[in-house]
Amino acid sequence: MTANIKTISVSEVWKLFNLGGTVLVEAQSGDDLDIMPASWSCPLDYDKLSVVIDSSHYTRKLVEKDGYFLLALPTAKIIEKLMFLGSNSKNSLSSKIEDSKIEFYKVDDCRFPLPKGCVAWAVCKVLPETEIQKKYDLFLGQIVQAFYDERVIKDGHPQFENLDADFSILPNFGGAMFYRLGKRLPVPGYDD
Ligand SMILES: Cc1cc2nc3c(=O)[nH]c(=O)nc-3n(C[C@H](O)[C@H](O)[C@H](O)COP(=O)(O)O)c2cc1C
Repeated sequence: MTANIKTISVSEVWKLFNLGGTVLVEAQSGDDLDIMPASWSCPLDYDKLSVVIDSSHYTRKLVEKDGYFLLALPTAKIIEKLMFLGSNSKNSLSSKIEDSKIEFYKVDDCRFPLPKGCVAWAVCKVLPETEIQKKYDLFLGQIVQAFYDERVIKDGHPQFENLDADFSILPNFGGAMFYRLGKRLPVPGYDD
């Protein structure tokens, strides 16, 4: 085979295509709140997001009960909290959220508390695609409300490289392997 090009197993290649940042999925029913990280999440349309939520996860039960979920975009600042939320299930640890030490912003008229240490948050209403939920654990969400940290976008453009490295969102290559965002690549003639 050509130098530098090797086969990779079909079950490993997703790690390289996993280009977006990891998200936090939050769901609640009454006072019962849970949060889990998900790397398998991506935009589906300008006003829709998708995320895989395995049927064994407690968060999934809450999403199914409430019909809504919040996706938040966490930064390197809360990597330890994120790993705690992704290594512990509320199925067996009822104090998971308190133990994670995750903190929240309360925003008027928002049905979810917004986890701190994130730079964007989208409230999504579950789209009624029960077949793909059952078959692929894939949830599609209609974005009904969204917030962002004004420090990361200026004049419509992300500003990550001008911010402290702790502001980086978290591309994930499987397990606990994350990267920080690098430098923006100039593309002459196409930069706006
Ligand atoms: C970095 C990272 C990414 C993850 N991505 C996903 C994912 O995309 N989908 C999923 O169902 N679980 C994913 N998980 C696993 C859940 O976050 C984890 O099992 C969590 O503890 C479930 O919590 P819960 O049972 O309280 O909902 C991921 C875990 C980590 C650490």
